[in-house]
Amino acid sequence: MKSGLDLSEDVFKLFQELLIEESGLYFNKDNITFFCAAVNERMEKHKFNTYLEYYNYIKFHTNKYFELCELFDLITVGETHFYRNRPQIESLIEFILPDMIKRKTYSKDKSIRIWSAACSKGDEPYTIAMAIMEVLPSYKDWDICILGTDINRIAINAAKEAIFNKKDINQLPETLLNKYFIKRDSEYILNKSVKDLVSFERHNLATEAYSSEKMQNLDLIFCRNVIIYFDSATTKRVIESFYYNLKSDGYLFLGDTESLWQVTDKFCRSEFPQAFVYKKATTGKSKKEIVPFISIPEIKLQDYPSTKKIQIEEKTEPVNELKQLYKEAVIEFNNKKYENALSVFDKIIAQDMYNIPSYFAQATILANQEKYTEAINLLTKIIELDSLFVDAHYFLGVLLDRDNNLKGAEAQFKKVIYIDPEIVLAYFNLGNIYLCQENYNNALREYNNAVNLLGKNRDKPIKFCQDLSAENILRACKNNIQKIREKGWY
Ligand SMILES: C[S@@+](CC[C@H](N)C(=O)[O-])C[C@H]1O[C@@H](n2cnc3c(N)ncnc32)[C@H](O)[C@@H]1O
Repeated sequence: MKSGLDLSEDVFKLFQELLIEESGLYFNKDNITFFCAAVNERMEKHKFNTYLEYYNYIKFHTNKYFELCELFDLITVGETHFYRNRPQIESLIEFILPDMIKRKTYSKDKSIRIWSAACSKGDEPYTIAMAIMEVLPSYKDWDICILGTDINRIAINAAKEAIFNKKDINQLPETLLNKYFIKRDSEYILNKSVKDLVSFERHNLATEAYSSEKMQNLDLIFCRNVIIYFDSATTKRVIESFYYNLKSDGYLFLGDTESLWQVTDKFCRSEFPQAFVYKKATTGKSKKEIVPFISIPEIKLQDYPSTKKIQIEEKTEPVNELKQLYKEAVIEFNNKKYENALSVFDKIIAQDMYNIPSYFAQATILANQEKYTEAINLLTKIIELDSLFVDAHYFLGVLLDRDNNLKGAEAQFKKVIYIDPEIVLAYFNLGNIYLCQENYNNALREYNNAVNLLGKNRDKPIKFCQDLSAENILRACKNNIQKIREKGWY
Protein backbone atom coordinates (compact mmCIF):
# COMPACT_ATOMS: atom_id res chain seq x y z
CA MET A 1 0.00 0.00 0.00
CA LYS A 2 1.36 3.39 -0.97
CA SER A 3 -0.44 5.43 1.67
CA GLY A 4 2.76 5.72 3.71
CA LEU A 5 4.38 7.66 0.86
CA ASP A 6 4.96 11.36 1.08
CA LEU A 7 3.87 13.51 -1.83
CA SER A 8 6.46 16.26 -2.04
CA GLU A 9 5.36 19.80 -2.83
CA ASP A 10 7.25 19.77 -6.12
CA VAL A 11 5.64 16.58 -7.36
CA PHE A 12 2.17 17.73 -6.20
CA LYS A 13 2.74 20.88 -8.26
CA LEU A 14 3.53 18.75 -11.33
CA PHE A 15 0.27 16.83 -10.81
CA GLN A 16 -1.64 20.10 -10.30
CA GLU A 17 -0.38 21.48 -13.62
CA LEU A 18 -1.06 18.26 -15.49
CA LEU A 19 -4.60 17.95 -14.15
CA ILE A 20 -5.44 21.52 -15.06
CA GLU A 21 -4.14 20.87 -18.58
CA GLU A 22 -6.00 17.59 -19.00
CA SER A 23 -9.26 18.24 -17.12
CA GLY A 24 -9.38 21.83 -15.87
CA LEU A 25 -9.61 20.44 -12.33
CA TYR A 26 -7.73 22.47 -9.77
CA PHE A 27 -6.57 20.60 -6.67
CA ASN A 28 -5.21 22.44 -3.68
CA LYS A 29 -3.74 21.22 -0.43
CA ASP A 30 -7.20 20.93 1.17
CA ASN A 31 -7.99 18.05 -1.19
CA ILE A 32 -4.63 16.31 -0.97
CA THR A 33 -5.85 13.30 1.07
CA PHE A 34 -8.66 12.62 -1.37
CA PHE A 35 -6.28 13.10 -4.29
CA CYS A 36 -3.58 10.79 -2.86
CA ALA A 37 -6.10 8.02 -2.13
CA ALA A 38 -7.06 7.99 -5.82
CA VAL A 39 -3.47 8.11 -7.06
CA ASN A 40 -2.44 5.39 -4.61
CA GLU A 41 -5.11 3.11 -6.03
CA ARG A 42 -3.76 3.59 -9.57
CA MET A 43 -0.14 3.21 -8.46
CA GLU A 44 -1.00 -0.05 -6.76
CA LYS A 45 -2.53 -1.30 -9.99
CA HIS A 46 0.60 -0.49 -12.02
CA LYS A 47 3.01 -1.38 -9.23
CA PHE A 48 4.69 2.02 -9.22
CA ASN A 49 6.73 2.81 -6.16
CA THR A 50 6.87 6.59 -6.29
CA TYR A 51 4.47 9.39 -7.17
CA LEU A 52 6.99 10.70 -9.70
CA GLU A 53 6.99 7.38 -11.59
CA TYR A 54 3.22 7.53 -11.85
CA TYR A 55 3.34 11.20 -12.89
CA ASN A 56 5.81 10.38 -15.68
CA TYR A 57 3.51 7.62 -16.85
CA ILE A 58 0.41 9.83 -17.16
CA LYS A 59 2.42 12.69 -18.62
CA PHE A 60 4.51 10.92 -21.25
CA HIS A 61 3.27 7.39 -21.92
CA THR A 62 1.72 6.75 -25.35
CA ASN A 63 -1.28 5.17 -23.61
CA LYS A 64 -1.66 8.05 -21.16
CA TYR A 65 -5.22 8.80 -22.32
CA PHE A 66 -6.50 5.49 -20.96
CA GLU A 67 -4.79 5.94 -17.63
CA LEU A 68 -6.02 9.52 -17.34
CA CYS A 69 -9.59 8.30 -17.82
CA GLU A 70 -9.08 5.82 -15.01
CA LEU A 71 -7.75 8.58 -12.79
CA PHE A 72 -10.59 10.98 -13.66
CA ASP A 73 -13.10 8.29 -12.66
CA LEU A 74 -11.55 8.39 -9.19
CA ILE A 75 -10.82 12.07 -8.62
CA THR A 76 -14.07 13.67 -9.74
CA VAL A 77 -16.74 14.62 -7.22
CA GLY A 78 -20.07 13.39 -8.54
CA GLU A 79 -22.39 14.70 -5.82
CA THR A 80 -25.83 15.29 -7.33
CA HIS A 81 -29.53 14.61 -6.77
CA PHE A 82 -32.89 15.08 -8.46
CA TYR A 83 -34.38 18.58 -8.17
CA ARG A 84 -31.05 20.04 -7.03
CA ASN A 85 -31.39 23.76 -6.48
CA ARG A 86 -35.18 23.56 -6.35
CA PRO A 87 -35.78 27.32 -6.91
CA GLN A 88 -33.96 27.09 -10.27
CA ILE A 89 -35.94 24.01 -11.29
CA GLU A 90 -39.18 25.73 -10.29
CA SER A 91 -38.20 28.75 -12.39
CA LEU A 92 -37.62 26.36 -15.29
CA ILE A 93 -41.05 24.79 -14.84
CA GLU A 94 -43.05 27.92 -14.05
CA PHE A 95 -41.44 30.49 -16.34
CA ILE A 96 -38.67 29.43 -18.71
CA LEU A 97 -40.21 26.35 -20.32
CA PRO A 98 -43.76 27.74 -20.66
CA ASP A 99 -42.42 30.93 -22.26
CA MET A 100 -40.09 28.99 -24.57
CA ILE A 101 -42.86 26.61 -25.64
CA LYS A 102 -45.20 29.53 -26.35
CA ARG A 103 -42.60 31.27 -28.50
CA LYS A 104 -41.69 28.09 -30.35
CA THR A 105 -45.31 27.14 -30.96
CA TYR A 106 -45.91 30.60 -32.43
CA SER A 107 -42.90 30.29 -34.76
CA LYS A 108 -43.74 26.64 -35.59
CA ASP A 109 -40.40 25.40 -34.30
CA LYS A 110 -41.28 22.25 -32.39
CA SER A 111 -37.83 21.40 -31.12
CA ILE A 112 -36.14 21.79 -27.72
CA ARG A 113 -32.39 21.30 -27.34
CA ILE A 114 -30.74 21.08 -23.94
CA TRP A 115 -27.25 20.11 -22.74
CA SER A 116 -26.58 19.05 -19.17
CA ALA A 117 -22.80 19.43 -19.15
CA ALA A 118 -21.04 17.48 -16.37
CA CYS A 119 -24.28 15.72 -15.44
CA SER A 120 -22.73 13.11 -13.13
CA LYS A 121 -25.04 10.08 -12.95
CA GLY A 122 -27.97 11.70 -14.70
CA ASP A 123 -30.17 13.16 -11.94
CA GLU A 124 -29.99 16.62 -13.54
CA PRO A 125 -30.89 15.79 -17.17
CA TYR A 126 -33.64 13.44 -15.97
CA THR A 127 -35.03 16.20 -13.74
CA ILE A 128 -35.13 18.41 -16.86
CA ALA A 129 -36.83 15.66 -18.87
CA MET A 130 -39.54 15.27 -16.21
CA ALA A 131 -40.00 19.04 -16.14
CA ILE A 132 -40.62 19.04 -19.91
CA MET A 133 -43.06 16.13 -19.64
CA GLU A 134 -44.99 18.02 -16.95
CA VAL A 135 -45.10 21.35 -18.77
CA LEU A 136 -45.63 19.98 -22.27
CA PRO A 137 -48.11 17.07 -22.25
CA SER A 138 -47.80 16.80 -26.06
CA TYR A 139 -44.01 16.38 -25.79
CA LYS A 140 -44.18 13.27 -28.02
CA ASP A 141 -45.10 15.51 -30.97
CA TRP A 142 -41.97 17.57 -30.40
CA ASP A 143 -38.36 16.90 -31.23
CA ILE A 144 -36.82 16.90 -27.75
CA CYS A 145 -33.06 16.47 -27.46
CA ILE A 146 -31.51 16.40 -23.98
CA LEU A 147 -27.83 15.53 -23.88
CA GLY A 148 -26.02 14.58 -20.67
CA THR A 149 -22.22 14.48 -20.66
CA ASP A 150 -19.57 13.90 -18.05
CA ILE A 151 -15.86 13.13 -17.91
CA ASN A 152 -16.51 10.26 -15.50
CA ARG A 153 -17.27 6.97 -17.30
CA ILE A 154 -18.69 5.28 -14.22
CA ALA A 155 -21.15 8.16 -13.78
CA ILE A 156 -22.20 8.00 -17.44
CA ASN A 157 -22.80 4.26 -17.23
CA ALA A 158 -24.88 4.73 -14.08
CA ALA A 159 -26.84 7.49 -15.83
CA LYS A 160 -27.68 5.16 -18.70
CA GLU A 161 -28.86 2.54 -16.23
CA ALA A 162 -31.06 5.03 -14.35
CA ILE A 163 -31.48 3.15 -11.09
CA PHE A 164 -31.43 5.46 -8.11
CA ASN A 165 -31.44 5.30 -4.32
CA LYS A 166 -33.34 7.14 -1.58
CA LYS A 167 -30.72 9.88 -1.27
CA ASP A 168 -30.96 10.67 -5.00
CA ILE A 169 -34.74 11.14 -4.99
CA ASN A 170 -35.17 12.67 -1.54
CA GLN A 171 -35.86 16.21 -2.82
CA LEU A 172 -38.14 15.13 -5.64
CA PRO A 173 -41.84 16.02 -5.18
CA GLU A 174 -43.78 12.90 -4.31
CA THR A 175 -46.15 13.26 -7.28
CA LEU A 176 -43.20 13.04 -9.69
CA LEU A 177 -41.67 10.14 -7.78
CA ASN A 178 -44.90 8.16 -7.98
CA LYS A 179 -45.45 9.04 -11.61
CA TYR A 180 -42.01 8.41 -13.07
CA PHE A 181 -40.35 5.72 -10.92
CA ILE A 182 -40.99 2.12 -9.98
CA LYS A 183 -39.79 1.11 -6.54
CA ARG A 184 -37.93 -2.19 -6.24
CA ASP A 185 -36.65 -2.99 -2.72
CA SER A 186 -34.53 0.03 -1.83
CA GLU A 187 -34.08 1.13 -5.47
CA TYR A 188 -36.02 3.57 -7.62
CA ILE A 189 -36.10 2.62 -11.29
CA LEU A 190 -36.78 5.43 -13.73
CA ASN A 191 -39.53 4.93 -16.34
CA LYS A 192 -38.50 4.33 -19.93
CA SER A 193 -40.58 7.35 -21.05
CA VAL A 194 -38.18 9.68 -19.18
CA LYS A 195 -35.03 7.73 -20.13
CA ASP A 196 -35.96 7.92 -23.82
CA LEU A 197 -35.75 11.72 -23.80
CA VAL A 198 -32.10 11.81 -22.67
CA SER A 199 -28.92 10.55 -24.33
CA PHE A 200 -25.51 10.35 -22.65
CA GLU A 201 -21.92 10.70 -23.86
CA ARG A 202 -18.59 10.83 -22.12
CA HIS A 203 -17.08 14.28 -22.74
CA ASN A 204 -14.26 16.30 -21.22
CA LEU A 205 -15.29 19.97 -21.06
CA ALA A 206 -11.70 21.15 -20.67
CA THR A 207 -10.01 19.46 -23.62
CA GLU A 208 -12.56 18.19 -26.12
CA ALA A 209 -14.34 20.12 -28.88
CA TYR A 210 -17.97 21.12 -28.44
CA SER A 211 -18.72 20.14 -32.01
CA SER A 212 -21.08 17.19 -31.62
CA GLU A 213 -24.39 17.94 -33.33
CA LYS A 214 -26.26 17.67 -30.00
CA MET A 215 -24.13 20.44 -28.48
CA GLN A 216 -25.09 23.00 -31.13
CA ASN A 217 -27.92 25.54 -31.26
CA LEU A 218 -28.97 24.99 -27.70
CA ASP A 219 -31.95 26.49 -25.91
CA LEU A 220 -30.56 25.72 -22.46
CA ILE A 221 -27.23 24.67 -21.04
CA PHE A 222 -26.98 23.37 -17.48
CA CYS A 223 -23.43 23.36 -16.13
CA ARG A 224 -23.99 23.39 -12.40
CA ASN A 225 -21.50 22.77 -9.62
CA VAL A 226 -18.62 22.10 -12.01
CA ILE A 227 -16.77 25.34 -12.69
CA ILE A 228 -16.10 25.71 -8.95
CA TYR A 229 -13.65 22.82 -9.45
CA PHE A 230 -11.95 24.41 -12.49
CA ASP A 231 -9.04 26.83 -12.66
CA SER A 232 -9.99 30.27 -13.96
CA ALA A 233 -8.54 29.86 -17.47
CA THR A 234 -10.57 26.67 -18.05
CA THR A 235 -13.72 28.32 -16.68
CA LYS A 236 -13.28 31.18 -19.15
CA ARG A 237 -12.78 28.82 -22.10
CA VAL A 238 -15.75 26.66 -21.15
CA ILE A 239 -18.12 29.62 -20.67
CA GLU A 240 -16.94 31.23 -23.94
CA SER A 241 -17.75 27.98 -25.80
CA PHE A 242 -21.16 27.81 -24.16
CA TYR A 243 -21.84 31.34 -25.39
CA TYR A 244 -21.35 30.28 -29.00
CA ASN A 245 -23.29 27.01 -28.63
CA LEU A 246 -26.36 28.69 -27.17
CA LYS A 247 -29.09 30.24 -29.31
CA SER A 248 -29.37 34.01 -29.06
CA ASP A 249 -32.17 33.73 -26.47
CA GLY A 250 -30.61 30.73 -24.71
CA TYR A 251 -30.14 30.36 -20.95
CA LEU A 252 -27.14 29.13 -18.99
CA PHE A 253 -27.77 27.55 -15.57
CA LEU A 254 -24.85 27.58 -13.13
CA GLY A 255 -24.68 26.32 -9.54
CA ASP A 256 -25.72 28.46 -6.59
CA THR A 257 -22.20 29.47 -5.61
CA GLU A 258 -20.90 29.92 -9.15
CA SER A 259 -20.80 33.28 -10.85
CA LEU A 260 -19.46 34.88 -14.01
CA TRP A 261 -17.65 37.62 -12.10
CA GLN A 262 -14.18 38.02 -13.62
CA VAL A 263 -15.16 35.39 -16.20
CA THR A 264 -17.16 37.17 -18.90
CA ASP A 265 -19.65 40.00 -19.40
CA LYS A 266 -21.29 38.27 -22.34
CA PHE A 267 -24.15 37.04 -20.13
CA CYS A 268 -26.58 38.88 -17.91
CA ARG A 269 -28.79 37.70 -15.08
CA SER A 270 -32.38 36.83 -15.77
CA GLU A 271 -34.26 37.11 -12.51
CA PHE A 272 -37.13 34.89 -11.40
CA PRO A 273 -38.97 35.13 -8.07
CA GLN A 274 -36.64 32.77 -6.21
CA ALA A 275 -33.66 32.23 -8.48
CA PHE A 276 -31.73 33.65 -11.36
CA VAL A 277 -30.32 32.17 -14.55
CA TYR A 278 -27.78 33.63 -16.97
CA LYS A 279 -28.90 34.73 -20.40
CA LYS A 280 -26.91 35.93 -23.38
CA ALA A 281 -26.41 39.66 -22.95
CA THR A 282 -27.35 42.14 -25.62
CA THR A 283 -25.72 45.21 -24.06
CA GLY A 284 -22.77 45.87 -21.73
CA LYS A 285 -23.67 44.64 -18.26
CA SER A 286 -23.23 46.20 -14.85
CA LYS A 287 -21.14 44.50 -12.18
CA LYS A 288 -24.19 43.74 -10.07
CA GLU A 289 -25.49 41.53 -12.84
CA ILE A 290 -22.57 39.14 -12.89
CA VAL A 291 -21.27 39.04 -9.32
CA PRO A 292 -22.31 36.12 -7.09
CA PHE A 293 -25.95 36.04 -6.31
CA ILE A 294 -27.66 35.66 -2.99
CA SER A 295 -30.48 33.19 -3.27
CA ILE A 296 -33.75 33.51 -1.45
CA PRO A 297 -33.66 30.95 1.34
CA GLU A 298 -35.90 27.94 1.07
CA ILE A 299 -38.30 28.19 3.95
CA LYS A 300 -40.20 25.22 5.29
CA LEU A 301 -43.03 26.06 7.62
CA GLN A 302 -42.66 24.51 11.02
CA ASP A 303 -45.26 23.13 13.38
CA TYR A 304 -47.32 25.69 15.17
CA PRO A 305 -45.01 27.34 17.69
CA SER A 306 -46.06 29.10 20.87
CA THR A 307 -46.27 32.88 20.70
CA LYS A 308 -45.69 35.63 23.21
CA LYS A 309 -49.31 36.63 23.75
CA ILE A 310 -50.58 33.11 24.25
CA GLN A 311 -47.81 32.24 26.65
CA ILE A 312 -48.58 35.29 28.74
CA GLU A 313 -52.35 34.89 28.88
CA GLU A 314 -52.35 31.09 29.00
CA LYS A 315 -55.40 30.80 26.79
CA THR A 316 -55.63 27.14 25.95
CA GLU A 317 -58.82 27.22 23.86
CA PRO A 318 -57.66 29.83 21.35
CA VAL A 319 -54.33 28.06 21.11
CA ASN A 320 -56.06 24.93 19.87
CA GLU A 321 -58.14 26.92 17.44
CA LEU A 322 -55.09 28.81 16.16
CA LYS A 323 -53.10 25.59 15.90
CA GLN A 324 -55.83 24.14 13.72
CA LEU A 325 -55.88 27.26 11.53
CA TYR A 326 -52.11 27.17 11.26
CA LYS A 327 -52.25 23.54 10.13
CA GLU A 328 -54.79 24.52 7.48
CA ALA A 329 -52.58 27.35 6.27
CA VAL A 330 -49.56 25.08 6.00
CA ILE A 331 -51.55 22.58 3.92
CA GLU A 332 -52.63 25.37 1.56
CA PHE A 333 -49.03 26.61 1.40
CA ASN A 334 -47.65 23.14 0.62
CA ASN A 335 -50.29 22.69 -2.08
CA LYS A 336 -49.15 26.00 -3.55
CA LYS A 337 -52.60 27.59 -2.94
CA TYR A 338 -50.88 30.75 -1.84
CA GLU A 339 -53.87 33.12 -1.84
CA ASN A 340 -55.79 30.72 0.41
CA ALA A 341 -52.78 30.35 2.68
CA LEU A 342 -52.40 34.14 2.92
CA SER A 343 -55.99 34.58 4.05
CA VAL A 344 -55.79 31.80 6.66
CA PHE A 345 -52.64 33.44 8.05
CA ASP A 346 -54.59 36.73 8.11
CA LYS A 347 -57.23 35.04 10.29
CA ILE A 348 -54.54 33.86 12.72
CA ILE A 349 -52.98 37.31 12.88
CA ALA A 350 -56.41 38.89 13.50
CA GLN A 351 -56.63 36.81 16.70
CA ASP A 352 -52.97 36.94 17.67
CA MET A 353 -51.08 39.99 16.47
CA TYR A 354 -47.80 38.57 17.79
CA ASN A 355 -47.92 35.46 15.65
CA ILE A 356 -44.48 35.78 14.08
CA PRO A 357 -44.54 32.45 12.18
CA SER A 358 -47.66 33.60 10.34
CA TYR A 359 -46.10 36.95 9.38
CA PHE A 360 -42.97 35.08 8.29
CA ALA A 361 -44.93 32.63 6.16
CA GLN A 362 -46.76 35.56 4.56
CA ALA A 363 -43.45 37.29 3.82
CA THR A 364 -42.20 34.10 2.14
CA ILE A 365 -45.28 33.84 -0.05
CA LEU A 366 -45.15 37.51 -1.01
CA ALA A 367 -41.44 37.28 -1.91
CA ASN A 368 -42.15 34.22 -4.05
CA GLN A 369 -44.84 36.26 -5.79
CA GLU A 370 -42.26 39.01 -6.47
CA LYS A 371 -44.11 41.38 -4.10
CA TYR A 372 -40.82 42.37 -2.55
CA THR A 373 -41.89 45.66 -0.98
CA GLU A 374 -44.75 44.02 0.89
CA ALA A 375 -42.46 41.18 1.98
CA ILE A 376 -39.86 43.70 3.20
CA ASN A 377 -42.53 45.55 5.20
CA LEU A 378 -43.67 42.34 6.90
CA LEU A 379 -40.11 41.33 7.76
CA THR A 380 -39.49 44.78 9.24
CA LYS A 381 -42.60 44.33 11.36
CA ILE A 382 -41.39 40.92 12.56
CA ILE A 383 -38.06 42.46 13.59
CA GLU A 384 -39.95 45.15 15.55
CA LEU A 385 -41.71 42.34 17.45
CA ASP A 386 -38.61 40.21 17.95
CA SER A 387 -35.32 41.90 17.12
CA LEU A 388 -33.36 38.67 17.68
CA PHE A 389 -35.27 36.59 15.12
CA VAL A 390 -32.30 35.72 12.95
CA ASP A 391 -34.29 34.23 10.05
CA ALA A 392 -36.11 37.52 9.51
CA HIS A 393 -32.84 39.50 9.42
CA TYR A 394 -31.33 37.05 6.95
CA PHE A 395 -34.38 37.04 4.69
CA LEU A 396 -34.60 40.83 4.84
CA GLY A 397 -30.91 41.05 3.85
CA VAL A 398 -31.57 38.87 0.81
CA LEU A 399 -34.56 40.93 -0.31
CA LEU A 400 -32.80 44.28 0.21
CA ASP A 401 -29.86 43.00 -1.84
CA ARG A 402 -32.27 41.97 -4.57
CA ASP A 403 -33.76 45.46 -4.41
CA ASN A 404 -30.26 46.87 -4.97
CA ASN A 405 -30.23 48.33 -1.46
CA LEU A 406 -26.73 47.05 -0.70
CA LYS A 407 -26.25 49.22 2.40
CA GLY A 408 -29.50 47.94 3.91
CA ALA A 409 -28.59 44.35 3.05
CA GLU A 410 -25.13 44.78 4.58
CA ALA A 411 -26.70 46.00 7.85
CA GLN A 412 -29.00 42.98 8.02
CA PHE A 413 -26.24 40.43 7.40
CA LYS A 414 -24.16 42.13 10.08
CA LYS A 415 -27.09 41.75 12.47
CA VAL A 416 -27.34 38.06 11.57
CA ILE A 417 -23.69 37.65 12.56
CA TYR A 418 -24.26 39.62 15.76
CA ILE A 419 -27.08 37.27 16.75
CA ASP A 420 -25.42 34.07 15.56
CA PRO A 421 -21.75 34.35 14.55
CA GLU A 422 -21.79 30.80 13.17
CA ILE A 423 -24.02 31.56 10.17
CA VAL A 424 -21.61 31.10 7.33
CA LEU A 425 -23.88 32.38 4.55
CA ALA A 426 -24.04 35.79 6.23
CA TYR A 427 -20.25 36.18 5.81
CA PHE A 428 -20.42 34.82 2.27
CA ASN A 429 -23.20 37.25 1.34
CA LEU A 430 -21.34 40.17 2.92
CA GLY A 431 -18.30 39.16 0.83
CA ASN A 432 -20.47 39.25 -2.30
CA ILE A 433 -21.89 42.66 -1.39
CA TYR A 434 -18.40 44.13 -0.85
CA LEU A 435 -17.25 42.60 -4.13
CA CYS A 436 -20.09 44.39 -5.85
CA GLN A 437 -19.09 47.65 -4.18
CA GLU A 438 -15.45 47.05 -5.23
CA ASN A 439 -14.49 47.09 -1.57
CA TYR A 440 -11.97 44.28 -1.99
CA ASN A 441 -10.37 44.48 1.48
CA ASN A 442 -13.70 43.93 3.17
CA ALA A 443 -14.68 41.24 0.67
CA LEU A 444 -11.44 39.37 1.42
CA ARG A 445 -12.07 39.67 5.15
CA GLU A 446 -15.60 38.25 4.91
CA TYR A 447 -14.66 35.40 2.56
CA ASN A 448 -11.80 34.53 4.91
CA ASN A 449 -14.22 34.58 7.87
CA ALA A 450 -16.45 32.15 5.98
CA VAL A 451 -13.46 29.92 5.12
CA ASN A 452 -12.33 29.81 8.76
CA LEU A 453 -15.79 28.98 10.00
CA LEU A 454 -16.22 26.24 7.42
CA GLY A 455 -12.86 24.83 8.45
CA LYS A 456 -14.24 24.45 11.98
CA ASN A 457 -17.69 23.13 11.04
CA ARG A 458 -17.20 21.10 7.87
CA ASP A 459 -19.89 18.57 8.57
CA LYS A 460 -22.57 20.91 9.90
CA PRO A 461 -25.55 21.65 7.61
CA ILE A 462 -25.50 25.11 6.06
CA LYS A 463 -28.32 27.18 7.54
CA PHE A 464 -30.58 28.90 4.98
CA CYS A 465 -29.70 26.70 2.04
CA GLN A 466 -30.31 22.98 1.98
CA ASP A 467 -28.64 22.46 -1.37
CA LEU A 468 -25.28 24.07 -0.66
CA SER A 469 -22.56 21.87 0.73
CA ALA A 470 -19.76 23.26 2.88
CA GLU A 471 -17.41 22.20 0.07
CA ASN A 472 -19.29 24.36 -2.48
CA ILE A 473 -19.20 27.49 -0.35
CA LEU A 474 -15.59 26.89 0.61
CA ARG A 475 -14.59 26.63 -3.04
CA ALA A 476 -16.65 29.67 -4.01
CA CYS A 477 -14.97 31.75 -1.26
CA LYS A 478 -11.53 30.53 -2.20
CA ASN A 479 -12.12 31.14 -5.92
CA ASN A 480 -13.20 34.72 -5.19
CA ILE A 481 -10.26 35.27 -2.84
CA GLN A 482 -7.94 34.03 -5.59
CA LYS A 483 -9.52 36.23 -8.26
CA ILE A 484 -9.21 39.29 -6.00
CA ARG A 485 -5.56 38.46 -5.29
CA GLU A 486 -4.75 37.73 -8.95
CA LYS A 487 -5.91 41.26 -9.75
CA GLY A 488 -3.67 42.63 -7.03
CA TRP A 489 -6.67 44.19 -5.27
CA TYR A 490 -5.70 43.80 -1.66
C1 LIG B 1 -20.65 17.96 -8.36
S1 LIG B 1 -21.03 17.11 -9.85
C2 LIG B 1 -22.33 18.09 -10.49
C3 LIG B 1 -23.41 17.26 -11.13
C4 LIG B 1 -24.63 18.05 -11.58
N1 LIG B 1 -24.30 19.02 -12.59
C5 LIG B 1 -25.30 18.73 -10.39
O1 LIG B 1 -25.18 19.95 -10.23
O2 LIG B 1 -25.95 18.06 -9.60
C6 LIG B 1 -19.61 17.60 -10.85
C7 LIG B 1 -19.44 16.72 -12.09
O3 LIG B 1 -18.49 17.37 -12.95
C8 LIG B 1 -17.79 16.35 -13.64
N2 LIG B 1 -16.57 16.92 -14.24
C9 LIG B 1 -15.47 17.36 -13.61
N3 LIG B 1 -14.56 17.77 -14.50
C10 LIG B 1 -15.11 17.63 -15.73
C11 LIG B 1 -14.66 17.89 -17.03
N4 LIG B 1 -13.46 18.40 -17.28
N5 LIG B 1 -15.48 17.62 -18.06
C12 LIG B 1 -16.71 17.09 -17.84
N6 LIG B 1 -17.19 16.80 -16.61
C13 LIG B 1 -16.39 17.07 -15.56
C14 LIG B 1 -17.55 15.32 -12.54
O4 LIG B 1 -17.25 14.06 -13.06
C15 LIG B 1 -18.86 15.35 -11.77
O5 LIG B 1 -19.74 14.35 -12.21
